Amino acid sequence: MDNRPIGVFDSGLGGLTAVRELQRLLPGEDIIYFGDTGRVPYGGRSRDTIIRYARQDVAFLRTFDLKAIVIACGTVSTTALDVLAAENDIPVWGVVEPAAAAAAAATRNGRVGLIGTQATIRSGAYERCIAQAAPRTEVMAAACPLFVPLVENGRFRRGDVVVETVAGEYLAPFRAAGVDTLVLGCTHYPLLTEVIGHCMGPKVTLIDVGRQCADAVAGHLRDRDALGQPGRTGESRYYVSDSAEDFSRLASIFLRRNVEETVKQVEIWNY
Ligand code: DGL
Repeated sequence: MDNRPIGVFDSGLGGLTAVRELQRLLPGEDIIYFGDTGRVPYGGRSRDTIIRYARQDVAFLRTFDLKAIVIACGTVSTTALDVLAAENDIPVWGVVEPAAAAAAAATRNGRVGLIGTQATIRSGAYERCIAQAAPRTEVMAAACPLFVPLVENGRFRRGDVVVETVAGEYLAPFRAAGVDTLVLGCTHYPLLTEVIGHCMGPKVTLIDVGRQCADAVAGHLRDRDALGQPGRTGESRYYVSDSAEDFSRLASIFLRRNVEETVKQVEIWNY
């Protein structure tokens, strides 16, 4: 049994889609969330910059006595997981492996699509993991750099002509290729599930990487007998690197409930 909190971070608010799943699966766990809202998006940045930012994010989280860290960000998971795991003496888990396993299990025709940020697609990390789980699977990948800024600006609903136009253009090649499974390789994308689902049609399975990661984290903690005391109620605390003012409104959209907890701003450059 381990009552220490789980640290979770993302470049911005997308990681809250993983937090929502963690809170649903593990209601007894305390969560410390850090969203680097002052520096989002990470996806178009170089590997070195992403690693530097991720190290600072982890250094801030490590000011708490944590039992594990969850990288609730496709970009950091694909680019910096190895570095962060090697530098920390607590488990560091990312979103790639669980999502790759889910995609390999879901596909019927062996054609999987992958969308993510430029850094995620450049890394080839999902392709490597899918190839290990299901060697004969073809993976077609494309970066969708406009999705994160659109989501962070609240432009993710069906009927929004801007996001529907962008999605239509990004997803047309996947439709043409006949993928039957599409990995939403960025934790911001679950907010676009309706828009993407409408574009791709009902026969295509969408893989939510935050949800898969939360499932895997729950399993890891159970296997290590590292869950909190049975019956306890978990608390979540939120930290951001830009103004905390607008956080509650936006976070409520990602978490699909009102956020009443206090949110604090962090000087992330100091870490
Ligand atoms: N949620 C991040 C991810 O999963 C957003 C990427 C970004 O900051 O560009 O990749």
